[in-house]
Amino acid sequence: MSVASPTLREILDKCTRFLTEKRVDSPRLSAELLVAEALGGSRLDLFLDLDKPLREPELARIRPLLVRRGSGEPMAYILGRREFYGLDFHVSPEVLIPRPDTELGIERALTMFSRDECFFFADVGTGSGALATTLLTLFPYAHCIATDISFGALRVAQNNLLRHRVGDRCLLVQGNLLGHLGPSRLDLIVANLPYIGERNTASLSREVLDFEPHLALFGGADGDELFVPFLEDVQRVVAPGGGLLMEVDPVQVPGVCHLLQWVFSRKTEIGVYKDLGGHERYIQARFA
Ligand SMILES: C[S@@+](CC[C@H](N)C(=O)[O-])C[C@H]1O[C@@H](n2cnc3c(N)ncnc32)[C@H](O)[C@@H]1O
Repeated sequence: MSVASPTLREILDKCTRFLTEKRVDSPRLSAELLVAEALGGSRLDLFLDLDKPLREPELARIRPLLVRRGSGEPMAYILGRREFYGLDFHVSPEVLIPRPDTELGIERALTMFSRDECFFFADVGTGSGALATTLLTLFPYAHCIATDISFGALRVAQNNLLRHRVGDRCLLVQGNLLGHLGPSRLDLIVANLPYIGERNTASLSREVLDFEPHLALFGGADGDELFVPFLEDVQRVVAPGGGLLMEVDPVQVPGVCHLLQWVFSRKTEIGVYKDLGGHERYIQARFA
């Protein structure tokens, strides 16, 4: 007696039940994306063919993806990609998954420079290269130096710069902050450095804590360990009239604004901008 092959609808329901039992976020969406990936199509393709029977080779491609998701691994690492500001980025466990909050840094840069301006910027702690790559695609005459302490992250950034055809305008450098740069005249420095305090690990989800690189998450006990050396580097490399865009945790905003006035001067123009969730997330400064 032959056993009927399960339909796509039945498999989607089964995968959703499995991921719900494993307490994974958005179990239905995860199931749909994983099954679509395993079958080599899109989510839309699934809905057009829900009664299609799935054979063993197809089920065999779904199972390992499902097991990874069931263990809490983020979707972006399983699929190897994440969208940021409308662009597709390659991601691996060596880089932080780019967050929607970080898109605010792009929005702020768009207010500081016109699209046809020729300027030079640094992206410090570039990770996947999301900020550097997106800015270079939006500003076709800009040039960039992107740094990271992690060589693995720089490999991912290089892949993304080349994928979006802006690699010829970006120099990638492995190093601590901007320590390798002597006195320079950069027009803009953007940075999303690690800013979570090691004391606050309890506030992080399992997906973040167990899978994302700790080098990208934690900035010492209180999360602010890199801020003073970073701002000292900024002081050395920024051009007069140049700018800074820095992502922080909302609780760090008063401290960083105070530091900026201390390291630079009271004449520094400082603005604080809120992310989509209404939290103060980006500090924008223009130096006298
Ligand atoms: C929060 S992630 C940001 C990644 C990316 N810029 C983004 O916004 O998605 C911080 C990045 O800073 C890097 N990093 C950590 N300490 C650093 C240091 N001392 N100097 C340079 N980069 C550092 C990490 O490897 C990581 O890639």
